[in-house]
Amino acid sequence: MPAPAGRARRVLAATTVAVMGTLAVGMAVAAPSSADAGPTLGQLAAAQGRYFGSATDNPTLDNAPYTAVLGSEFNQITVGNTQKWMYTEPNRGQFDYTQADKIVAFAQAHDQIVRGHTLVWHNQLPGWIDTVPAGELLGVMRDHVANVAGHYQGEVVHWDVVNEAFEEDGTRRQSVFQQKIGDSYIAEAFKAARAADPDAKLYYNDYNIEGIGAKSDAVYNLVKSFKQQGIPIDGVGLQAHLILGQVPSTLRQNIQRFADLGVDVAITELDIRMRTPRDATKDAQQAADYRTVTNACLAVARCVGITVWDFSDGYSWIPSVFPGEGAALIYDENFAKKPSYWAVHEALGGTTTTTTTTTTGNTGSGCTATYRVTGQWHGGYQAEVTVRNTGATATSGWTVRWTFAQGQTVRSLWNGVLTADGQEMTVRNAPYNGRITVDGTTAFGFIGAHTGTNDTPTVTCATA
Ligand code: XIL
Repeated sequence: MPAPAGRARRVLAATTVAVMGTLAVGMAVAAPSSADAGPTLGQLAAAQGRYFGSATDNPTLDNAPYTAVLGSEFNQITVGNTQKWMYTEPNRGQFDYTQADKIVAFAQAHDQIVRGHTLVWHNQLPGWIDTVPAGELLGVMRDHVANVAGHYQGEVVHWDVVNEAFEEDGTRRQSVFQQKIGDSYIAEAFKAARAADPDAKLYYNDYNIEGIGAKSDAVYNLVKSFKQQGIPIDGVGLQAHLILGQVPSTLRQNIQRFADLGVDVAITELDIRMRTPRDATKDAQQAADYRTVTNACLAVARCVGITVWDFSDGYSWIPSVFPGEGAALIYDENFAKKPSYWAVHEALGGTTTTTTTTTTGNTGSGCTATYRVTGQWHGGYQAEVTVRNTGATATSGWTVRWTFAQGQTVRSLWNGVLTADGQEMTVRNAPYNGRITVDGTTAFGFIGAHTGTNDTPTVTCATA
């Protein structure tokens, strides 16, 4: 069991829950590592009354570069595997918390709140479950929930009580619980969890319920009927295992409709996968997608936090389950921050590291260019240049020029054609964006490298 100090802190967090009415996020967050001054995602989220967390798993707890980030960047941890049934009750009536306790202790040592995951799920079950006679399974399930939620009583702020109970068409998944107990098993699991830990917020958690559709409608109706019947439920977890460029357009609206039922919402397992390998264009799309998800959560007061399903591409479940896909997270394999990290950082209210400069080109040239660093990480950066037509007629082409002063390079550029001559960069329009209407804008972007200092260069713009 985690140390008594952890229990004391949890009591404090529970008080904060009562005061805020939603969730304990008012806690201190560990200072960022010295190499990386500036607010962490956890600190930025806390300033918004929310958490930003990561799932983690036991094997990585021995990896020092990994735990340095895990312990400092986030103010919430989800136990990625070892609270699942196969680990916590490997034999009927024999409970084992050795692994999960280590993760909970890590979180407590770093002032991070814990989401418990998960009490009742059709996957990662021990083999003996299949041999339980139908008439005994309800009792077995209640015992399991009582034991696990009881063990972590006061130490877990949210429980994913039931996970993935619906099919895509909104019908019940034919899990062993559904088949042997029937429709009532979900309500029974929630009642048992409330009895075991009255202070934990109880969540229903699922995937493909981020947007409005048949499956999220089914969850919506479940929550609504629970509320009407007085069956305890406090939140809905949207897993958000998303695909590049496919954030559902109804995400914010969907979060809002759950909130309107009187439950909290959390983004519980966020990752946004792409065909590997990464490239600059995919990274830019992924950054935009992470920004969209973060903004959707921030737009709804009852969206209490976001959790990524581990934070480094080197420790993601995606490549093993979706062959040929990956690079779904916010840090790369070497723990360097990706454009997706900076998108979340900025959406949460962090400021970008370099200021914006606008330079007007020669008088009469008819355009201005604004150069902005949108993200920066160790050795690399992403920038965007917006070209505005300030002339009296539409442009038929444009040229933007600048000279780097600190040895920066451009590695990959989109929406323009680059000619680099030493430190002198010339970008002309792409075949499809030379025309800009009067007072209209277009933009090109790029990923590049820097060696430590990356001041914004002076840019000039000329029309063709
Ligand atoms: C995944 C883990 O990340 C993997 O390590 C494990 O092998 C399988 O489960 N939805 C869930 C999570 O609710 O528990 C799953 O986690 C990912 C999908």
